[in-house]
Amino acid sequence: MPTQLTGIITGGASGIGRAISKELAARGIFVVIADINASLGEDLVLEIHANGGKSRYMPVDVTDASSVHNVIHAVYQEFGRLDYLFNNAGISMYGELDQMSLEHWKKIMDINLWGVIYGVQAAYPLMKQQGFGHIANTASVAGLGPTPTASAYSTTKHAVVGLTTSLHYEAEAFGIKVSAICPSHVDTPIFDNGEAISLDKNKINEQVRKQKMMSPEAFAIFALKGLEQNKPIVCPVPLRRTMDAVFALFPFLQRKIMRMVCRVVRETSVVKSDDSPALPVHKNTPF
Ligand SMILES: NC(=O)c1ccc[n+]([C@@H]2O[C@H](COP(=O)([O-])OP(=O)(O)OC[C@H]3O[C@@H](n4cnc5c(N)ncnc54)[C@H](O)[C@@H]3O)[C@@H](O)[C@H]2O)c1
Repeated sequence: MPTQLTGIITGGASGIGRAISKELAARGIFVVIADINASLGEDLVLEIHANGGKSRYMPVDVTDASSVHNVIHAVYQEFGRLDYLFNNAGISMYGELDQMSLEHWKKIMDINLWGVIYGVQAAYPLMKQQGFGHIANTASVAGLGPTPTASAYSTTKHAVVGLTTSLHYEAEAFGIKVSAICPSHVDTPIFDNGEAISLDKNKINEQVRKQKMMSPEAFAIFALKGLEQNKPIVCPVPLRRTMDAVFALFPFLQRKIMRMVCRVVRETSVVKSDDSPALPVHKNTPF
């Protein structure tokens, strides 16, 4: 078995993927930055090389199964092993459901969910063959609970958590580790690049940036530590389990917070107020 450890990171050219790529390279792993953005990817390779690491950019569009398959198989054939696959490429999307089109749904499902499925489908049999490997799928805290006004994003991330935590147990008999990485607020371009349908993106981002942001570098170290511990879910939100327990015991607290989120995001609406739902919403909802 060749000794050079290798890792592929989709969406590796920016933000969280970029920080994970640099951290893996610093640990001696040959990092394949698989991204749709060639110029950012090539820049990162130069930076990694300048720091003494080993890396290559490979173009990929995660919405295309054969593009993902080809990158994974090419790396496996060349290096004779695949130690890590990070299915990390993703986009964000805010919007009230009635403002979204099916094209919006398709776009985010194709990148955030199908992109992950294509990666898993291509890498899992190879890892099974070699008897080891770690698949890390980037989900989100939005995959662990409700995210009003970002229901499509939350849908994709819940699906990624479901896929990943199920496969975690299915894969362990074959020596394969599988983890869901669930960031909360990490300071990356995703907020500026994301879509806000019929909402004022600047105002939303103002609200988002009021949250405590983690740096991508700090998050990468945190995520890799979680992978070393083979956690099914790697999430930096302190007391997440405690919050789950609190919400289970006192569900009205979660409802209160979610309604507040709705209210705050709706204040950024660019749709005429006549078209906006009246507030307070579902005051008498019996749940
Ligand atoms: N930043 C956060 O606070 C946060 C929170 C929760 C989850 N996440 C998740 O983390 C992951 C990384 O996000 P980020 O914050 O680093 O964002 P980012 O925008 O900095 O990076 C996303 C990367 O994905 C690439 N990409 C987009 N579409 C692609 C495609 N079709 N094919 C290949 N590459 C594509 C982009 O070129 C970019 O390099 C995403 O899955 C995101 O949903 C981020």
